[in-house]
Amino acid sequence: MSVKEIFETMEYGPSAESASEALAWLATQETGFGQFIDGAFTAPGDTFESRNPATGALLAKVTQATQADVDAAVAAARAAQPKWEKLGGPGRARHLYALARLLQKHARLFAVLETLDNGKPIRESRDIDVPLAARHFYYHAGSAQLMASEMPGRVAMGVCGQIIPWNFPLLMLAWKVAPALATGNTVVLKPAEWTPLTALLFADICRQAGLPKGVVNIVTGDGAVGEMIVASEVDKIAFTGSTEVGRRIREATAGSGKALTLELGGKSPYIVFEDADLDSAVEGLVDAIWFNGGQVCCAGSRLLVQEGVAGRFHAKLKARMEKLRIGDPLDKCIDVGAIVDPVQHKRIAEMVAASDGEVFQPGPCPEGCFYPPTLITGLAPASALMQDEIFGPVLVSATFRTPSEAVEMANNTRYGLAASVWSENINVALDVAPKLAAGVVWINGSNMFDAAAPFGGLRESGFGREGGPEGLTAYTRPAGKPKPGKPVAAFPGGEAEPQPVDRTAKLYIGGKQARPDGGYARNVHDKRGALIGQAPLASRKDIRNAVEAARGAAGWAGASAHNRAQVLYYIGENLSARSDGFATLLDRLTGGRDGAKEVETSIERLFTYAAWCDKFDGRVAGVPLRGTALAMRAPCGVIGGLCPDQHPLLGLVSLMAPAIAMGNRVVLVASEPFPLAATEFYQVLDTSDVPGGVVNILTGSHAELAPTLAGHADVDSVWSFSGAPLSEVVERHAAGNLKRSWVNDGTARDWTGADGEGRAFLDAATEVKTVWIPWGA
Ligand code: NAI
Repeated sequence: MSVKEIFETMEYGPSAESASEALAWLATQETGFGQFIDGAFTAPGDTFESRNPATGALLAKVTQATQADVDAAVAAARAAQPKWEKLGGPGRARHLYALARLLQKHARLFAVLETLDNGKPIRESRDIDVPLAARHFYYHAGSAQLMASEMPGRVAMGVCGQIIPWNFPLLMLAWKVAPALATGNTVVLKPAEWTPLTALLFADICRQAGLPKGVVNIVTGDGAVGEMIVASEVDKIAFTGSTEVGRRIREATAGSGKALTLELGGKSPYIVFEDADLDSAVEGLVDAIWFNGGQVCCAGSRLLVQEGVAGRFHAKLKARMEKLRIGDPLDKCIDVGAIVDPVQHKRIAEMVAASDGEVFQPGPCPEGCFYPPTLITGLAPASALMQDEIFGPVLVSATFRTPSEAVEMANNTRYGLAASVWSENINVALDVAPKLAAGVVWINGSNMFDAAAPFGGLRESGFGREGGPEGLTAYTRPAGKPKPGKPVAAFPGGEAEPQPVDRTAKLYIGGKQARPDGGYARNVHDKRGALIGQAPLASRKDIRNAVEAARGAAGWAGASAHNRAQVLYYIGENLSARSDGFATLLDRLTGGRDGAKEVETSIERLFTYAAWCDKFDGRVAGVPLRGTALAMRAPCGVIGGLCPDQHPLLGLVSLMAPAIAMGNRVVLVASEPFPLAATEFYQVLDTSDVPGGVVNILTGSHAELAPTLAGHADVDSVWSFSGAPLSEVVERHAAGNLKRSWVNDGTARDWTGADGEGRAFLDAATEVKTVWIPWGA
């Protein structure tokens, strides 16, 4: 093309990045890559191919790890862990810093290799993936440096199994490896089978950085290798990938005692209000859905645009789509690269072909593993493409009339990962942001990430956060060896004739005492076998009623922190007024002599959480991007809890108080052996201005009620402190809607001391919601 012709057409010329360095690095392993275990590469075994999706060319042969490889990797990580942790924060910080420096030094090589392997435009791998990965190591070098002072009493989990997807191979590796290493863990990481190459280059970097052997181990292969890691002797699994596999991992790890964080799929809404800067919103949408070809878990894949501007907005959007350049990902002027693999391409094409909406695709699109930017309109809210993750460059669009309708439509999804809100009206944007069921909200922006800003989802988008101090918590545990706990049995009835019972206890549902649906109760005896009273046996139906009542009390989440504190103080005051009666009852129920002390500690605990109401506030994250990120604390919603066996009053209060202090509603199943302290507590609640449905209390068999409580789709989080060994049941049933779970059986907790209250409870009672707002620049 002549210069004159270029001036006339203003066509882009090719601007290809050279692949020669990356290909030369791959050529060093011509016979194939082995596993990176204990600081060295093993010889290649059975290999599979890693291909360039843009051309179909073979890039490398990579080994499918065997069970023996996984075992060796876990053993190497286990052997290396104590010394790595003992190195101390500052010692580990130096290694993380060295890794960051080497990532930067080899940034171009990493970027080109990533683009070759994944098909994403070099512009993205060069300007986003690799710099963000380096930033993650720098940030966590700092976290390691400060760990002793900033995370007192916390120690490493041990060995972490980490499984990552193919959409951000190096960046997801950084998100996993950096916080784990910073906090003293060692890792066994598996990259996705379609994109293992930058992880293998990273292994090389670990060697260059002089990282001690066994601290980072990388095994390659498909889902079968992932399953082996999940089943292996690791202390924690961190997974990013599809919701389906995440659910399987939740089930597979249920009851194993392994910690788990899941970062799963999404169908994130992108909400454009009529007062938005429409041109900016169009540009934001390009970043939201055509960044990485839409193969992004938090892609703004569901456009919701206000009716009055929908026509204009769609016209602008289509015009912009016509200008997007699709093609060779190594070309620096390309906007949309190749789809990661022909399998994924087929999946996208089939989903779009099955849709009954109106499909707009600007032409032309190159042959091969490329898919055109696509807009689909005219879909019903319940249609598959409005609900299911496509994981490709496909945007679906619908319209709304009012802000409340926008919120309703946005939240009409089983996911809860991210959302974008576009409005020039600060009142509209900041009113809508907290109402969105999403772990991350961008205001007038999209797809912004930083190591200091926590990232992660709600609902079927998983649980746990990555980034910031919030992300570090999940890689640590309290110091000290947990003491094994054991269930406490109820006292059996004696020989003596039952005494007349003057009052039959009921359940407490929706602020009212309710008879159990099944109509059954059980006798509760004291230590000598004398009958104290009868406790109702709640059934599955009662659980459902209680959850419904809790759902109905959603207004509590909107009560001010001051008001919540007032209610907690009031409960404390009313309990105090009845302390003698409770003390006597507790002594009788448990056969102990600490009743008065238990009442006193319960009152104090109520006051403690009243104090916390307006003090557990979240944080402003210092992100090096336009704007700032607020890591807010939002209530989880409805929390189901199985109360501890011992300390029947204090145990109940220890679960209830932090949960309601943070704006949650609770469905609690009282101590199984000693239920009558809870039933007595209803009257305290009745006189303390607790809105109906905020606290619901049931009595009965933990083992019978746990599956329904943990499996209920309208329960957002479940805590089990039951003395019965229920963690397997709770975690397995929680897999259904992927709710958060906190299981503690098997470990004894001192409810009377610091172990029974504090930040761990407040963390469990809140979701971190990261809201990015324009600020400063
Ligand atoms: P996937 O969830 O199957 O793969 C992610 C990782 O998990 C890979 O490393 C894979 O080898 C591993 N894995 C697969 N099965 C496993 C198992 N049973 N146990 C342990 N590890 C296992 O995702 P896939 O099949 O590559 O993509 C399917 C769909 O998942 C995509 O179309 C997309 O909708 C979604 N996805 C979401 C991602 C996200 O970041 N949220 C990332 C990748 C895929």
